[in-house]
Amino acid sequence: MSTSLEPRGTHEGAPAYHFDNRVVGPLLSHQERWDELAGTHSGFRSTVAQGYWVVTDSEAVQGALQDWRTFSSSSVAALDPDPKYMWIPEMLDPPQHTTWRRLLGYEFGPKHIATLEPEIRRVAAEIIDRLAPTGGADVLDEFTRQFPTRVFMNVVGLPEEDLDQFLAWVHDLLHLTHAEDPDGSRQMVAMRAVSSYFDEQIALRREAPRDDLLSRAMSWEIDGAPISDADMHAFCILLFQAGFDTVPVSIGWALYHFACHPEQRAAILADPSLVANSVEEILRVYSFVVPARKAVQDTEIGGCPVKAGEMVMLPLAVCNRDAERYEDPLQVDLHRTTNNHIAFGSGPHRCLGSHLARLELTVAIEEWHKRIPDYRIVPGQDLQQTGNIYGLISLRMEW
Ligand code: HEM
Repeated sequence: MSTSLEPRGTHEGAPAYHFDNRVVGPLLSHQERWDELAGTHSGFRSTVAQGYWVVTDSEAVQGALQDWRTFSSSSVAALDPDPKYMWIPEMLDPPQHTTWRRLLGYEFGPKHIATLEPEIRRVAAEIIDRLAPTGGADVLDEFTRQFPTRVFMNVVGLPEEDLDQFLAWVHDLLHLTHAEDPDGSRQMVAMRAVSSYFDEQIALRREAPRDDLLSRAMSWEIDGAPISDADMHAFCILLFQAGFDTVPVSIGWALYHFACHPEQRAAILADPSLVANSVEEILRVYSFVVPARKAVQDTEIGGCPVKAGEMVMLPLAVCNRDAERYEDPLQVDLHRTTNNHIAFGSGPHRCLGSHLARLELTVAIEEWHKRIPDYRIVPGQDLQQTGNIYGLISLRMEW
């Protein structure tokens, strides 16, 4: 992808471009485009679809994520200001949001998540043990995309025998090419199937509660009333979406990174205590999440005159790759001591699953390198990354 954008004049005095965050592009092209934009702009207008604002000033991005009074989460997709769906807690604003986060605090807090470590390790080891003797694979299909799906099913309390069905749905939801699903109908069918699956699982637990997250969530009260089935559903859908793509994407970047940097691979093999820092640095440098918010009042941000009701895109990459925040910002530095990146967001909606995500990433890197310490990227691949959430589309490796 060329980083130069098609200019479209100005919009309310701000520069306007045909900027589309959805496009597939070469390896790291989106991150590099953000670097260029942040070096030349504080904000601009995208003319894609009905148009939205894009903020590229690092302080302004973080400030907007924290300022929920001005920037609401009632929509978190720049191209869809009036969504017909609800994800809980992501699309709630305080005070309802605060109530949900309080209830969810224990389940996703560091203490409870640490108790899951043996199980998460067992799942990772089992997948990699099966893969190690094969000598090579597309590591995204054969490892990174399976691992968090199995962990998610465990965390939520979904039956293991549904795993294959779940993996098939996840594949259809996230990984179909345009040629495989030109009109998006297979994706839609999978979304409906997942949706009714959650309805069934909720109904089963209403009848007979078990010892799992879903059952416990049903005993919670919000404003003195039990959580409705519709809200439980909106919560399940978000949990499902939140971890299924982000964790595989980040493990994919980690394996790509260590394949390209054998000296850093040798360093984590010699001193596994460096893995934790490598996780933070990979999340920071390969920053792949781009939140958005809906303005609830007229305001100005990054030089953009935003009107109430308009959408604002807030790329985390401009903060995490900012030379004013980090020395040598584009380098993964295993010994970096500044750890204030915002790969998990900032403000009230900061990732609820960050402890789980960090644990999954750490375990994945550790267990992989115990079993497959020596590997390389199969030469001759044209590595491409998706738009929206920037993840490698495929990554064939050999060992
Ligand atoms: C490396 C993996 C992950 C990354 C980089 C990541 C990143 C993020 C970011 C940037 C946000 C804030 C979005 C916004 O401000 O609009 C977020 C929110 C959220 N994440 Fe994650 N996430 C990851 C994994 C997970 C996992 C494993 C789960 C749980 C299963 C999870 C659950 C959530 C939830 C529930 C929210 C919404 C929180 C709220 O609205 O209060 N995430 N995540």
